[in-house]
Amino acid sequence: VALKQQRIELARVPRGIPVEEDFRLVEAEVPEPAEGQFLGRVVYLSLDPYLRSAIAGRHPGHDACRPGDLVPGRAVAEVVRSRHPALSSGDFVLVASGWQEYCLSDGAGVRRIEEEGAPLSAYLGVLGMPGLTAWAGVTQLLRPRAAETVVVSAATGPVGGTAGQIAKRLGCRVVGIAGSAAKCAHAVAEFAFDACVNHKEQGFRAELAAACPDRIAAYFDNVGGAVLEAVISELGLNGRIALCGLIDQYNTGVPYALPLAPVIAKRARLMGLVVYDYESRYAEFLGQALGWLREGRLRYLEDRAQGLAAAPLAFRRLMSGQNFGKSLVVVGEERRLE
Ligand SMILES: NC(=O)c1ccc[n+]([C@@H]2O[C@H](COP(=O)([O-])OP(=O)(O)OC[C@H]3O[C@@H](n4cnc5c(N)ncnc54)[C@H](OP(=O)(O)O)[C@@H]3O)[C@@H](O)[C@H]2O)c1
Repeated sequence: VALKQQRIELARVPRGIPVEEDFRLVEAEVPEPAEGQFLGRVVYLSLDPYLRSAIAGRHPGHDACRPGDLVPGRAVAEVVRSRHPALSSGDFVLVASGWQEYCLSDGAGVRRIEEEGAPLSAYLGVLGMPGLTAWAGVTQLLRPRAAETVVVSAATGPVGGTAGQIAKRLGCRVVGIAGSAAKCAHAVAEFAFDACVNHKEQGFRAELAAACPDRIAAYFDNVGGAVLEAVISELGLNGRIALCGLIDQYNTGVPYALPLAPVIAKRARLMGLVVYDYESRYAEFLGQALGWLREGRLRYLEDRAQGLAAAPLAFRRLMSGQNFGKSLVVVGEERRLE
């Protein structure tokens, strides 16, 4: 008898912020790997802002999802059956699994997690793609000097939290921007940011100015929109901006009309960041990040949902800014029970 699993399909094309009704939990057979393939058991499913654009067909490499399609996503999975030459049962991998309990893969784009001493889930956040994004944006694009003021938005997320901590390690004054008082308190108390201001408060612009008395030398932008506009108005001359994400417009696809005159007046430099350009630097980044993590000098926060069925709600929370830390779904047991 074929084993059954749960998977989540798109039920209808989401409009704006995705809601639970846009998704459907269905039962499916656990597939058998063919020669050259392996079967992965999903342990941690990663929820990432780019998935909203991917579902809409606005992210490179993703066709728009139609009703009935498996929802895309990456995960930490355990290889449970292998006919792949380089992977064996018991290996843990990062794989484009989609929102399901078991996935087939031919190994393309798969990375085996070999390093010991860090939790597996960290490979979706601080030690994974978001961490590499943060590292690349700070050390390769912004290149801040000690004592410069660096501002980071979405400050408690896996990209922002990591970017701010790396800038702190370089001796910068780091000011976070986040969407609640609790997030701001966390950025200061746990990530050792010098200050953090709430972009949802009335006095946001004045608070940002007060937190950056020497003006802003470098900005790691995760959100775009009104927050980016506010930061540009506090930018110092020759300020640098790494444009990493525009979550402000992922739900709608409608671009924000950013006034460009201040960019000229400040002689600002805007740099687009695409993490895939830095894949070849992953080992270098991971070596540093693992060291900092083990020494307790790099911290991270996770927002965990339990069980595959919880993924749609968790995704809605992420896409409306309600997540508090790296958003992930615990789909299966971390270790085999046998
Ligand atoms: N360029 C690249 O290669 C690359 C790679 C990875 C990630 N990214 C981008 O980096 C950004 C952060 O990713 P992450 O994984 O670390 O996510 P994250 O910070 O955990 O989650 C997104 C955060 O964005 C803020 N937010 C949500 N909706 C918003 C809205 N409508 N307007 C303003 N802010 C909103 C919220 O934080 P607050 O409540 O604190 O505002 C929310 O918690 C995303 O934009 C992502 O697409 C880019």
